[in-house]
Amino acid sequence: MNDPGFYIGIMSGTSSDAIDVALISTHPKIELIASHSTPISTELRQQIHQLADPQKGSIDQLGHLDHQLGNAFANAVLELLSITHISPKLIIAIGSHGQTIRHRPSPSPHPFTIQIGDPNIIAEKTGITTVADFRRRDIAAGGQGAPLVPAFHRAVFSTEKIDRAIVNIGGMANITWLPQSELESEVIGFDTGPGNVLLDAWIYQHLQQGFDRNGAWATEGKLNKPLLDLLLSDDFFHRPPPKSTGREMFNLSWLQHRLESLNQMVAVVDVQRTLLELTAITIANSINQLSPTHKEIFVCGGGVFNPLLMGRLEYLLAPNPVFSTAKLGIDPQWIEAMAFAWLAYRRMENKPGNICNVTGAKHPQILGALYFGS
Ligand SMILES: Nc1ncnc2c1ncn2[C@@H]1O[C@H](COP(=O)(O)OP(=O)(O)O)[C@@H](O)[C@H]1O
Ligand SMILES: [Mg+2]
Repeated sequence: MNDPGFYIGIMSGTSSDAIDVALISTHPKIELIASHSTPISTELRQQIHQLADPQKGSIDQLGHLDHQLGNAFANAVLELLSITHISPKLIIAIGSHGQTIRHRPSPSPHPFTIQIGDPNIIAEKTGITTVADFRRRDIAAGGQGAPLVPAFHRAVFSTEKIDRAIVNIGGMANITWLPQSELESEVIGFDTGPGNVLLDAWIYQHLQQGFDRNGAWATEGKLNKPLLDLLLSDDFFHRPPPKSTGREMFNLSWLQHRLESLNQMVAVVDVQRTLLELTAITIANSINQLSPTHKEIFVCGGGVFNPLLMGRLEYLLAPNPVFSTAKLGIDPQWIEAMAFAWLAYRRMENKPGNICNVTGAKHPQILGALYFGS
C-alpha cells in the first residue's frame, strides 16, 4: 500500500545526551522532513546512569523514570509538531526506541533487554499510535535484539555500485556491511564495542564535562600502547558476530579494573587519547576483516563530529574513503531516530524489522508492540 503519511521516531541512545526526534515520509522515498532535539538534563542523565548501573537502582526508581521519560518523549514529539505546525493527524505512528537501562542478550542463559519511557503516556499525550518494545521479539526469536538499524541502513544506503560500510558512533558503536550484491542474506551488522561512552565517562570524571568537544582533550594526550593492548584483549572484541553490547559491559569500572592491572601510571589525558584509539581501532578492524575489497565508509552518530576520531578512522581504513552520511544526503545526527520512525512504518505495514543475519534471530519478525492513539 502506498501510504503518503508521516512517521516519527524517538531516540535516546546510550549516551543519554538528548532526546532526538525525526519526522519522516516513506513515499515516494524515505526522507527526513523535520527534526528536533531536546537535551537531557544532567540530573535526569545521572538518574538514568544510576538505574543502568547493575550495582545500583531500584524498582521504584525504574517505575519513576519510566513515567518521567514517557512524559519527556511525548513532550519532545509535541515540541516538534508545534515548531513545524504539523498536525498530529498526519502522523501514522510514532516509533519509540526507549531508554535502554539493561541489555544482556545471548550468550546470557536468560537473555533480556529493557527499554523504558512508558509508550502508554506517549500515545495518550500525543494522541498518536505508538510502537515500542522493538527489541524483545527479536530476542524471543533467538536474536540479540540488536543492532536494529542495519535494516534501515540497507533501505537507504545500499547500492549495487560498490560495497559500503555504515558506522554509527553513538554511546556504543555498530557497523552495517552493505554488499554490492544488495542481498539481505549477505548484510552483516554488529556492535563493535564502545563508541563515545568511555570517552564521555572519563572526561566527566576528570573535567566534569559531558563530552570531549571536537576531541580537544584527547588531542593533548599521547596514545599509551600497553593500555591499548590490554583494553583490546577483552574477549568481546574477538568474538564473532552476531554480538551486541551496552553500558553494563563497557563502563568506568571496566576501565578502572584494567588501569589497576597495568603496572604503570598513565596520565589521565593519555587515557582519553587511548580510549579514542580503542573506539577507532575496533571499528576499523571490524570493517577491514569483513572484506579486502574496495569500499566506501559512511559515518553517522555523534562520533562523526569528533575530528580526531574521524581522522584516526581515515588513517586506519585507508585507502578506502571515510565520509559522513551527509555526503549521501542524510544528516548523521538523525539517522537513528529516522530508523525508529521507519521501524514503526514496518510495524504498521506488518513487515519484518530485523535482519536475521545481523541479530541472529531464527526468522524475520515483525517488531514492536502497538499502543493506539486517540
Ligand atoms: N562536537 C563533538 N565532539 C566530540 N564528540 C561529540 C561531538 N558531538 C557529539 N559528540 C559525541 O556524540 C555523543 C552523542 O552521540 P549520539 O549519536 O547521540 O549517541 P547516542 O545514540 O548514544 O545518544 C556525545 O555524547 C559525544 O560523546
Ligand atoms: Mg544521543
